[in-house]
Amino acid sequence: MHMGPSVGNYRVLVAGSEENVGFASPEFISAMKECLDGLAELTGADGGYLPFIIPGSGTAAMESVTTFLREGDRILVLSNGVFGDRWSQIFERFPVQVDKLTARAGESVAMNRISEMVSANSYRMTVMTHVETSTGVRAPVREMISAVRKNSDIVVVDGVASVGGEEVNAALWNADIVLTASQKAIGAPPGLGLLVVRKSLLASADKDRVCGYFLDLRNWAQVMEGMMALKGGYFSTPPVSAVFSMREALRLAREEGLSSRVERHAAAASAIRKAVEDMGLQVVAREGLRSNTVTGVLLGGLDPGEFLKRCADNGVEFAAGVHPELKGRYFRIGHMGWVNSNDVAAAIHAMKKTVGEMT
Ligand SMILES: Cc1ncc(COP(=O)(O)O)c(C=O)c1O
Repeated sequence: MHMGPSVGNYRVLVAGSEENVGFASPEFISAMKECLDGLAELTGADGGYLPFIIPGSGTAAMESVTTFLREGDRILVLSNGVFGDRWSQIFERFPVQVDKLTARAGESVAMNRISEMVSANSYRMTVMTHVETSTGVRAPVREMISAVRKNSDIVVVDGVASVGGEEVNAALWNADIVLTASQKAIGAPPGLGLLVVRKSLLASADKDRVCGYFLDLRNWAQVMEGMMALKGGYFSTPPVSAVFSMREALRLAREEGLSSRVERHAAAASAIRKAVEDMGLQVVAREGLRSNTVTGVLLGGLDPGEFLKRCADNGVEFAAGVHPELKGRYFRIGHMGWVNSNDVAAAIHAMKKTVGEMT
């Protein structure tokens, strides 16, 4: 019950264990096309978006949005925790100006602060995190996007911990870019950075760009267009096995149905949260901001290191807390990907037994 890579699914793992195939082979091209279509489906991207699958991870997908920045651009970062802060750490490496609004642990940046900020300034780009994995907070991104839309040319949503386990709808939300990674709620092995990008952004080629070479999405766009047209394309060698695994994960997601999949995640989350509160522990995320995929739990004085070690001895691995404001006071439960009711029951049992041992 970790943050990801989430526990694998046999069919997904086996799909990635075939012989290597060439990236120009018909087998690989058709797997890429199926994955690109599946990614667009999971993120609610319509024909106005181009899906991307690039080698790397969530952070690679995050950094690739610098494709659309120019020297001196002003960027607004809305941060609810460690992964929101990662945006400013990325942008600090580029000659751009960053304004940042930060929420307390367990909260999401207040809408009135966002509105004030965008009424005073215009931004080239605004970035936000759908599910903040350091706390389990799910931000109201649809409202946040409407608040910033008029004064921000480009709006980016980090859906690394949400796509596949939460409702995500790039077109309905009017987001320009939604990004994610293969290893969390999609339930495939790590290795793929995933994005859907509004096509009109790609059309505006920019000679004053500040991005690097490998993560310049313009280099990758022609590959993705070629794969979508079943013609193929090359910029850099893709991780073929990870793509075959992801195709299987997306097939399973389609078999399950997207709304049933979101419902399964929501049911796991609410059973876990209820059990946690029944044990006298406290959920980090404020009521109304709790995600389907991650739960942070305050341990009320129990030592998190000892708690996690004992839980592992009792059969279930959880993740350590990483938010500096809550250092030494909490741990995190990942309930995403292929999580089922047996996993939930085992997790609750391990936590209860451990709390009993430590009190
Ligand atoms: C919300 C969020 N964004 C970005 C990342 C970074 O992704 P990766 O570790 O795949 O680079 C993570 C990883 O946990 C995350 O949870």
